[in-house]
Amino acid sequence: MGFLFNLIIISSKIKCLLDGCDDWDVSADLPEWDSHPSIIKETRLRPDIVIHSASTQLLIMVELTVPYDNRMEEAHIYKREKYMNLTKELENAGYKAVVMPVAVGARGFVGSSVYDLLTKLSICGNKRTKALKLLAEIAENSSRWIWSRRNEKFLHKD
Ligand SMILES: *[C@@H]1O[C@H](CO)[C@@H](O)[C@H](O)[C@H]1NC(C)=O
Ligand SMILES: *[C@@H]1O[C@H](CO)[C@@H](O)[C@H](O)[C@H]1NC(C)=O
Repeated sequence: MGFLFNLIIISSKIKCLLDGCDDWDVSADLPEWDSHPSIIKETRLRPDIVIHSASTQLLIMVELTVPYDNRMEEAHIYKREKYMNLTKELENAGYKAVVMPVAVGARGFVGSSVYDLLTKLSICGNKRTKALKLLAEIAENSSRWIWSRRNEKFLHKD
């Protein structure tokens, strides 16, 4: 009985966010990417990644932070609160909105939030393992890049 119960909880927890339609579009807050749907652009928040489906009016907003490793939890809570209002607004406008704050520590610690996101997007097994490793490596490399230029003026806004 207990075993079955656990199984049911696990399977509902990892339900794929992308089930139910196949017209997903991805936009990112980066110059070379498509811009966000207009409903998002009207707000003053700019989520890092928006995965959205016009047919179901479902919006998945991915917000990335790269905190110091000892501030992962704090960063996560801050982001969740920051987006709570936006989620409500979108719901009032007839959308279904999901916010997925994810954190990759500046020194390469990939938080469980990333694991959860990948799983909910049906990125599992080997692909997920590779993605997690790559994310950790990019965070580490980027931190090294910043550190090695710590004395350069352009990194400091005085
Ligand atoms: C969320 O909305 C409330 C009430 O409108 C407002 O007081 C608060 O500052 C908002 N929070 C953020 C993070 O925008
Ligand atoms: C990270 O840096 C190492 C050493 O410079 C390099 O070999 C590796 O390809 C880099 N990884 C990524 C993902 O850029």
